[in-house]
Amino acid sequence: MFKPEDLVQPGVAAIHPYEPGKPIEEVQRELGIAEPVKLASNENPIGPSPLAVRAIRDALSELNRYPDGGSWALVHKIAARHKVNPNRIFIGSGSCEIINLLAFLFLRPGLNAVSSEHAFVIYQLASAAAGGSLKAVPMRDGYTFDLDAIATAVDDNTRIVFLGNPNNPTGTIYGRAEWKRFLKQIPERMVIVADEAYFEFVSDPDYPDSLEDHDDTRMLVTLRTFSKIFGLAGLRVGYAVARPDIISLLNKVRQPFNVTSLGQIAVMAGMDDEEHVRRTLAVNSEGIRYLEGEFKRLGIPYVPSHANFILADVGSGRAVYEKLLRAGVIVRPMDGYGYPRHVRISVGLPEENRKLVAALKKVL
Ligand SMILES: Cc1ncc(COP(=O)(O)O)c(C=O)c1O
Repeated sequence: MFKPEDLVQPGVAAIHPYEPGKPIEEVQRELGIAEPVKLASNENPIGPSPLAVRAIRDALSELNRYPDGGSWALVHKIAARHKVNPNRIFIGSGSCEIINLLAFLFLRPGLNAVSSEHAFVIYQLASAAAGGSLKAVPMRDGYTFDLDAIATAVDDNTRIVFLGNPNNPTGTIYGRAEWKRFLKQIPERMVIVADEAYFEFVSDPDYPDSLEDHDDTRMLVTLRTFSKIFGLAGLRVGYAVARPDIISLLNKVRQPFNVTSLGQIAVMAGMDDEEHVRRTLAVNSEGIRYLEGEFKRLGIPYVPSHANFILADVGSGRAVYEKLLRAGVIVRPMDGYGYPRHVRISVGLPEENRKLVAALKKVL
């Protein structure tokens, strides 16, 4: 009998599928917990922008129509916001789709991508799915990307360098000087992906905005998403800013209607909702302050975060995750990211954060 694994790209059969945050409904069903608190997927705890919700309601009667395959209006709106030509914008079904498409375009057996260890796991999954491999370079202090070491690790077969800034799951950033030095070190024939999913949360003045470094020699791809600060993760919309020739390749290999009509309409409304963004930032920075303070008090080592989640060393991540689940709080165990001692906790609403801390006190 034919084994389908023998027919696919080498490396695909060995992939461990992505382990998402446990859905609320599953915890309700399996553990009988009426109202679990989900702090597991770095979502926006205040909900979606009301402007986005209204836009979706208004568009529901058009659901018989296919979406605009090229997301024309959204492309133009994002281009105007970043003051770039629309031919430099690509809209994806979440930035995860764009990571997959980049790997599909540029990798194949024998070729590799380079990133850091403890980086967003989709870089590795996408590279393997395309038949390539991912070289994971050690971090500087266990939690921070070492861009100099990454630049040293690229070789003749490297086609993509994946960077997350801030990185998920550590919440750490690299600074401007290190980034500029890195850009000078990386050969022009490699695609550099600057994944800035949490861009809007960062307040550190040394945080580099990779959009300032686009030029026509480098193959730099900046990724942003509507899943985090804009609170629209369920719609699956993200985008890339890159050279027109890279955008053109992405458009060749995407599905014809890769972004839903409701997704396009809602993110256009959500983008303009400054009040929603302001409230989100306020809830997040208060939550970070509260959680870091409580972790200090409880003697739990944690990694100071620039994003909307915190990586905490609780001794045994999987065991604490299981116990917290039974206490009605969903966090994310980090063994799959090479941190068996840690859990990653997304910042919630004040009462959700308090529930987490109360549960942690009981569990530890
Ligand atoms: C670093 C990073 N990049 C990309 C994404 C993907 O976001 P989306 O596909 O929802 O746009 C995430 C989501 O958790 C992330 O943490």
